[in-house]
Amino acid sequence: MSYTEGMLKEGALKGKNILVTGGGTGLGKSMGLYFLKLGANLVITSRKLEVLQETAQEMEKETGGKVLALACDVREIDQVEKMWKDAVDHFGQIHAVLNNAAGNFISPTERLSTNAFNTVLDIVLKGTSQVTLTAGKHWIKEKQKGTFLNIVTTYAWTGSGYVVPSAAAKAGVLAMTRSLAVEWAKYNIRSNAIAPGPFPTEGAWSRLLPGDLVKKFDPAKKVPVGRVGEHQELANLAAYLMSDFSAYVNGEVITIDGGEWLQGAGEFNNLDQIPQELWDMMEASRGKKG
Ligand code: HXC
Ligand code: NAP
Repeated sequence: MSYTEGMLKEGALKGKNILVTGGGTGLGKSMGLYFLKLGANLVITSRKLEVLQETAQEMEKETGGKVLALACDVREIDQVEKMWKDAVDHFGQIHAVLNNAAGNFISPTERLSTNAFNTVLDIVLKGTSQVTLTAGKHWIKEKQKGTFLNIVTTYAWTGSGYVVPSAAAKAGVLAMTRSLAVEWAKYNIRSNAIAPGPFPTEGAWSRLLPGDLVKKFDPAKKVPVGRVGEHQELANLAAYLMSDFSAYVNGEVITIDGGEWLQGAGEFNNLDQIPQELWDMMEASRGKKG
């Protein structure tokens, strides 16, 4: 057994129709593919229809499952409502939503234009809230149960320089996740989040570590387990949180980062730079005194 393998049993998501925002690329694509393998039907949505259609074809070929590709800019409520209606008309019912679409780039904050700041806030916070509100209102009206899974980051609670609009927006998404977990539980709607550490994707890597930065700031070096994430291990966690096996998990954010954020947080964690010989010397000198 390995973390690169699927974890849930066959058919774990059978009968579920799952909508994935940002589902045509990167982590959304990997999580969606695993949902399909577990028996779900999929709606993938983002701005670029061609990318979505290519991904849908690829996924259907690989799994034999059903994938509907719908173009939608999550910043535009009219597009969100139309996308939701088309998804429901196609599959009859949507059981779960993976809010995964995001926009991000690195920049000193004082160099950002108002429009640049707002663009990231709008995709991440406004986009997620618009999809959530549209789906939630529908489920409540139709008395259907539902599941939200929101992709945040560990800097949603630590904050982070150079990605300030993203940090502010992801913090908002996390607050929304926890708030609705309580408020909408009475409607049988669960809300959870995942905070991934570094998982290589073209979208994130090209924007956050452009050019040679990826060599200079090798993300694996910041992770206590010594490596970046594998898409399958994230997909395993996401599939569990989407499935009925996690029925009692509500309002939780699960970090999957190999210990990365705690590495930066622990007061003495950088003492792993002390060589063994120095520890030996300190131990020996303690022995002499005692
Ligand atoms: C500063 C920038 C910029 C940059 C764009 N802008 N890129 N400012 N640095 N690198 C400014 C523009 O000049 C413009 O402001 C405003 O932002 C809007 O830019 P547009 O290109 O018109 O926006 P749009 O086409 O809507 O594209 C949105 C985007 C883009 C966010 C800028 O990168 C995108 O489409 N991203 C989607 C995918 C993505 O980002 N994936 C990564 C998620 S990774 P002005 O004032 O000039 O009009 C992630 C990981 C987190 O979140 C954790 C990792 C560990
Ligand atoms: P990605 O491939 O760039 O994914 C972002 C997706 O969002 C794209 O499919 C993009 O598609 C879509 N999107 C962007 N703007 C949109 C809009 N306005 N409306 C609708 N869809 C939009 O990057 P990723 O690494 O897989 O990121 C996926 C999620 O993981 C994000 O929430 C990100 O914050 C999170 N995350 C990633 C990492 C990592 O290391 N990779 C770490 C922590 C968190 P279009 O361009 O077609 O719209």
